[in-house]
Amino acid sequence: PKSLRVLGIESSCDDTAAAVVASDGQILGECSHHQYAVHEEHGGIVPGLAANEHLKNMPLVLHGALKAAGMRMDELDAVAVTRGPGLPSSLSVCVAAGKALAAAHSLPLVGVHHMEAHALMARMGNEQSVRFPYLCLLISGGHTMSLVVHDVNEYTLIGTTRDDSVGEAFDKVARELQIPWIVAQEGGGPGPALERIACRGDPSRFRMPMPMNKHDSGSSPDFSFSGIKAHIKRLREIGAFDPLCQRDQADIAAAFQLTTTQHLCKKTALALKHAKIALGAEAACLVASGGVASNQTVRAGLQRLAEKHNVPLVCPPPRLCTDNGVMIAWAGIERLRRGLLDPYTIDFIQRWPL
Ligand code: KG4
Ligand code: ZN
Repeated sequence: PKSLRVLGIESSCDDTAAAVVASDGQILGECSHHQYAVHEEHGGIVPGLAANEHLKNMPLVLHGALKAAGMRMDELDAVAVTRGPGLPSSLSVCVAAGKALAAAHSLPLVGVHHMEAHALMARMGNEQSVRFPYLCLLISGGHTMSLVVHDVNEYTLIGTTRDDSVGEAFDKVARELQIPWIVAQEGGGPGPALERIACRGDPSRFRMPMPMNKHDSGSSPDFSFSGIKAHIKRLREIGAFDPLCQRDQADIAAAFQLTTTQHLCKKTALALKHAKIALGAEAACLVASGGVASNQTVRAGLQRLAEKHNVPLVCPPPRLCTDNGVMIAWAGIERLRRGLLDPYTIDFIQRWPL
């Protein structure tokens, strides 16, 4: 088949990113801009500020990605853009940019589901090992779910969170512990900051409640994170730990990270069972992606689980687990190959089930 080169554009939340990717899985060029410094003082993402940053930085990021690839727009085969789900004001920036570029250069336009892009990322340059159908654990700031990926555009949801997403829990616990964000170009924000502090902690000093451990919910592949979060809030309120004491901070972070990992692994084991029933066969592999899949404790836990179940685990490299332009370009290639194109008139979709 003809080699394809696609520009991917992402601005669904707080990252402005663009990348040019080839259908053999090579990243030809990429450029991104993060907004940690803008949002940290507010303790979370402020949608209006995020949109302003996207508006300011989108042209620079597009220029940077094309320049890094050494390519002009007319050498591309398509433009892929995140269409949703996400923050409306953020999404409108990438959708407008993608539509305008595609229309001005008469290129095919591919509107991409952000979570589909996370789910397909592991296949980039690795299509021989990550064959359909596989079980995918999507663990990000907006979503926590397990699904069977039958093919591009074809998913069966197995489990989903009953309250917070796992990324939200990391972010809120980091806030409870008053952990300063890592403000870095790559791997910044509250999640990576909590991970770094948890390394120094003793996870056994504070006992955490294991979510959904009751008889009725124990066999469900769904997730829940609000209980651990509330427990940590309560511990702080009764003075069981002091967020300003480094040892307390590290021990709580370590206990939270370990319990969260154990919960994710338990529910993924159940999801593997459900997938087997749904498919009438074993899933070809287990894929984990989304921002939290860049966490080393989570990856190690899933690795042990995969070995126990004799299924290969595939995770994209950590920097491609968090939001990026490469995954949008790759999802664009997968859709383009199947003729899944969109008209220049598409709008963003704020809430969009897979
Ligand atoms: O996939 P992503 O970049 O954006 C969404 O689609 O939501 O995920 C972002 C989430 C945030 O909650 C962030 O704190 C979390 O992933 N995250 C992490 C780590 N890196 C990012 N959580 C724990 N450990 C990490 N290393
Ligand atoms: Zn994401």
